[in-house]
Amino acid sequence: MNLQFAEEIIEGLSSTPKHLSSKWFYDKIGDDLFVKIMNMPEYYLTDAEYEIFSKQTSAILDEFEVNKSQLELYELGAGDGTKTIQLLKAMDPKNFTYHPIDISENALNQLQERLAKELPEVSVAPVQGEYFEVLESLSKNESKIILFLGSNLGNMHDDVAKQFIKQLAEQMQAGDKLLLGLDKMKSKAIILPAYNDKQGYTEAFNLNLLSRINSEFDADFNLAQFEHRPNYDEETGIASSALVSKCKQTVNIKSLDKTFEFEENESIQTEISRKYNLDILENVFAGSGLAIKKEFNDSRNYFMNVLLEKN
Ligand SMILES: C[S@@+](CC[C@H](N)C(=O)[O-])C[C@H]1O[C@@H](n2cnc3c(N)ncnc32)[C@H](O)[C@@H]1O
Repeated sequence: MNLQFAEEIIEGLSSTPKHLSSKWFYDKIGDDLFVKIMNMPEYYLTDAEYEIFSKQTSAILDEFEVNKSQLELYELGAGDGTKTIQLLKAMDPKNFTYHPIDISENALNQLQERLAKELPEVSVAPVQGEYFEVLESLSKNESKIILFLGSNLGNMHDDVAKQFIKQLAEQMQAGDKLLLGLDKMKSKAIILPAYNDKQGYTEAFNLNLLSRINSEFDADFNLAQFEHRPNYDEETGIASSALVSKCKQTVNIKSLDKTFEFEENESIQTEISRKYNLDILENVFAGSGLAIKKEFNDSRNYFMNVLLEKN
């Protein structure tokens, strides 16, 4: 049994409002669904960041100063690595080791297989685990570049993101760099469909969290009695997803020896996806010792990759 998942289920479903972390979306089924989401026209985030990585590759690598010394390239929440591979292809494999970090063992295995085929000369050292745990194990005394793409930072509330960036900066030495992929604030008409695709992949992705609990903890969530409900608030710039109970119901989780009551319309918060502007970012980076060195934007100005350097 995954003890951390078990503890978070008990804590999250006992709270008001109920919540579960989006990091538990990613098992084999969740990883495959996320790849489908990234290929949907509504999910503009991947296209926008892919465009930056494929059209501005040399400008990004110039900022990395990759040829100066041997460096360690870390990626937090690497997923399928499609965007990163654009950079890896243009780098000299003698100069770096790539360390993809992900909570999903399945995602890491698939990425490793893909790299062995497409870029066999790149040395790859995957680490399976939670960002925070892996961060603590990083050595300070190496030249490093850290990638955190796909607007994954936006899955954290600002106070958590601020603490996270501070912790990350503590593991970096002067001159080390952090490349963040961040989705920009814009109209609801563009953002909301990205979390509510017509094909229903995002809905299936959210509901898979309940299927996972059913199979891993012998629970009896009736998926037909929960509905995926996305929302985007233009004022705050926060997109959120919830699973809403369609009726009053009781759910048993046998392996945890727990029972949870749901009222009709009661929700389980599953994910936030914060959208950014420079003011919000300045608050998140304040006091971290990291300074913005360069910003890369896609042609539609939907997304940005921000390069930060440790002072
Ligand atoms: C939204 S996907 C993005 C993947 C990739 N960065 C991209 O931009 O295409 C998030 C990835 O981060 C991983 N992940 C999510 N939360 C995590 C956590 N707390 N610790 C480690 N990995 C995590 C997931 O397994 C998944 O592969």
